[in-house]
Amino acid sequence: MSEAFRIRIDGREVEARPGETVLAAAARAGIEVPTLCQDERLDPMGSCRMCLVEVEGQRRLQPACAWRVEPGQAVTTQSERVDRHRRLLLELYLADHTPPREPNAPESEVLALARRYGAERRLDPVEAPREGREDPNPYITFDPGQCILCARCVRYCDEVEGVNAITLAGRGARTTIATAAQIGLLESTCELCGGCIDTCPTGALREKKPASLPVVQETRAVRTTCNFCGVGCQLDLHVAGDRVVRVGSPPPGTTVNDGNLCVKGRFAYDFIHHPDRLQTPLVRGRDGALREASWEEALARAAEGLLAVKERHDADALGFISSSRCTVEENYLVQKLARAAFGTNNCHQCAAT
Ligand code: FES
Repeated sequence: MSEAFRIRIDGREVEARPGETVLAAAARAGIEVPTLCQDERLDPMGSCRMCLVEVEGQRRLQPACAWRVEPGQAVTTQSERVDRHRRLLLELYLADHTPPREPNAPESEVLALARRYGAERRLDPVEAPREGREDPNPYITFDPGQCILCARCVRYCDEVEGVNAITLAGRGARTTIATAAQIGLLESTCELCGGCIDTCPTGALREKKPASLPVVQETRAVRTTCNFCGVGCQLDLHVAGDRVVRVGSPPPGTTVNDGNLCVKGRFAYDFIHHPDRLQTPLVRGRDGALREASWEEALARAAEGLLAVKERHDADALGFISSSRCTVEENYLVQKLARAAFGTNNCHQCAAT
């Protein structure tokens, strides 16, 4: 591997690695450059122009997300010229960026940057607002009026998920995000992972909320492990009061799943507060009706039933099926119970891990 070298960013000596971008070297040195189309999981596209910086010897501003470092290079990320560019760029984005429809929608990256650089909505819209068709899928909604065509969603779908369900469709002012054949997401190769929502910097792609959950802005994030399978993805439960109102993925590069989730981890959370959810064990009474019971009573009843089957039909009449939602240790205990306590090898787990 070639040797690291020094460059100067905003007058500071910074270590840079051969082949990396100015943005990566700056980030490692704690120098923040604003971005919109960049996502560290994706190849740089350099389309939004938000990260333009001054590079010594270059007449034009250059995109920090795509510009490769060179020994001795001097870069300026903050100057009157750079700030003026960022403010004007954001005003151009705002001109075509319709405000979110929900009153409590979280602030998008575009709006947060506009606030930070003092960009105001003062330019007339360049084009008539783009209209979208509501897609009948249960989880993802798209508002073309808020989209700035940075293509993060399209590139994520291609480069990370590898399914290419969505693309930049149309030409010129009519360009929008759609499936290639203009079909619904459910008919396409989309796996409804929701990664496009996570990477979208504008709020154009959003989650369709379960009707029972309110849209709230003030939430606290609780980091936890997804329990839908044994992979162990980390996710952030967004909690308002005592209700989980959204699931998000931790930032890329911070956890084993690198900011990615599957459809179950991201969207299957409304069961948490569902009124039909079992919260105590139930046992059947002599009348055949189910009634609530303590764990001791329920476990004793299960043991009684299992022993009765073994006595009447032998141990191989029993089968133990565990779940991929259990931990490896729990699955180990289930097979131990089957083999050591009841004397049968009939045990299985749905993911066979
Ligand atoms: Fe660099 Fe978009 S973030 S051009």
